[in-house]
Amino acid sequence: MGGIIIKTAEQIEGIRKSCRLAAETLDYAAQYVKPGISTGFIDKKIEEFIVSHGAIPATKGYNGYPKSSCISPNNVVCHGIPSENTILKDGDIINIDVTTILNGFYGDTSRMFSVGEISLQAENLVDATLHCLNLGIEQVKPGNYFGNIGFVINRYAMSKGYSVVYEFCGHGVGIDFHEEPQVDHAARRNTGELMKPGMIFTIEPMINEGKPRTNVDKHDGWTARTVDNKLSAQFEHTILVTPTGCEVLTDIHNEYPVN
Ligand code: MF3
Ligand code: CO
Ligand code: CO
Repeated sequence: MGGIIIKTAEQIEGIRKSCRLAAETLDYAAQYVKPGISTGFIDKKIEEFIVSHGAIPATKGYNGYPKSSCISPNNVVCHGIPSENTILKDGDIINIDVTTILNGFYGDTSRMFSVGEISLQAENLVDATLHCLNLGIEQVKPGNYFGNIGFVINRYAMSKGYSVVYEFCGHGVGIDFHEEPQVDHAARRNTGELMKPGMIFTIEPMINEGKPRTNVDKHDGWTARTVDNKLSAQFEHTILVTPTGCEVLTDIHNEYPVN
């Protein structure tokens, strides 16, 4: 109803800081990703880091979600609940997804991490998923259609023999956790709303080795797994539409041009 929020300069500055902290949290978490460590332990370190920087983990208590991050191994597509009983082992691929609230502003980002040596099959999926995110980011500029993000992501994923999860999407973010619009990762060319300067949203493609569909665990109501138990990978950035292109707000390593 309210439509897509165009953020003010002050809001953008606040969201930029929160995004930076979310990305720094992932950098910090990296040291704990190794065989024998539980995802619950990593979540504890993530919570400590976020709180010690004066922020709040957005996921904790969000619609009853119990933890400070989502950690999704192997066949878990998203919303894996960190647990002391989930022990990382050599060859796992995991997504860690962190959303911070700093001074009321949200920053949302996730990355894949490898546990020890991973298979070539897993590595190829992870590489292709990052490429999908990058292709989506290239579409972010004023006057372009949101649908073109999903168009290029789906086209590339299909060309590699993978499938795009359509049951979970990117989203507007910044003032609230999940704002309009819904950013589809599979879409038709030149469809949806037009991007405008001051819009901030995530692109967070989940790419599956096998079928695109997911099942949510009945026991916890959150953990979304591939229906065929094949691998899934995901990367997420929060992105600002600028007057001439975009700025990847969660890119703290200057991997993307600002334009
Ligand atoms: N951070 C996730 C996203 O990218 C949302 C997690 S919601 C939770 O949108 F409740 F599962 F934590
Ligand atoms: Co998100
Ligand atoms: Co996220």
